[in-house]
Amino acid sequence: MKVMVTGAAGFLGSHLGDKLIELGHEVIGVDNLLTGSRDNIKHLEGNPKFKFMELDVTEINSEILRRFTPRDDISQIYHLASPASPNKNNSKSYISFPFETMQVNTVGTWQLCETAIQIGAKLLFASTSEVYGDPLEHPQKESYRGNVSTTGPRAIYDESKRFGETIVSSFVRAKNLDGYSVSFARPGLTSVW
Ligand SMILES: NC(=O)c1ccc[n+]([C@@H]2O[C@H](COP(=O)([O-])OP(=O)(O)OC[C@H]3O[C@@H](n4cnc5c(N)ncnc54)[C@H](O)[C@@H]3O)[C@@H](O)[C@H]2O)c1
Repeated sequence: MKVMVTGAAGFLGSHLGDKLIELGHEVIGVDNLLTGSRDNIKHLEGNPKFKFMELDVTEINSEILRRFTPRDDISQIYHLASPASPNKNNSKSYISFPFETMQVNTVGTWQLCETAIQIGAKLLFASTSEVYGDPLEHPQKESYRGNVSTTGPRAIYDESKRFGETIVSSFVRAKNLDGYSVSFARPGLTSVW
């Protein structure tokens, strides 16, 4: 399969790319290097199974994609692009990139949903356990609605992920997108809230 990974030069995206290639797939990695690094994908340079597009996902559409991979033959899109660290002392934290974080999880997710429909690909959106805000329930079940704030210090991240999930589920319901949102638990989350 040909698979697109956004956030391909980040922590999770670079490992996902490695795994997909190890499994025999071709990977189109997309990243604007905002919080990621070329060092994470350096070992893939020259690998015929890996192509890198230095691009902001908010700019993606099927036409731009065709410049890099002429046939509409991408079967799956893993949308992992987004600043992810809540640690305000880390220069790569989403706290340092409020507008970029909101854009990539909302406009970027929307663009990718449109693109996935145009090229007939499945889409997986990397959400977060932060969609539960400062949860009053541990562990959180999918039925839990969260303890959230639209204006709190982390709202740029968790509210944009929440709306990202809304975008994906709306494309699934109204436009037959084969789409999924998954959340990764971040150990110690509540201690840094
Ligand atoms: N690491 C975790 O524990 C964790 C937990 C929950 C959710 N997540 C989610 O998983 C995904 C990956 O997290 P990570 O830890 O690998 O973060 P990371 O910062 O290491 O990787 C994110 C990558 O996305 C890229 N990026 C950001 N905005 C972009 C844009 N507009 N266009 C293209 N590329 C862009 C960055 O340059 C970076 O390479 C994120 O969506 C994050 O919200 C991660």
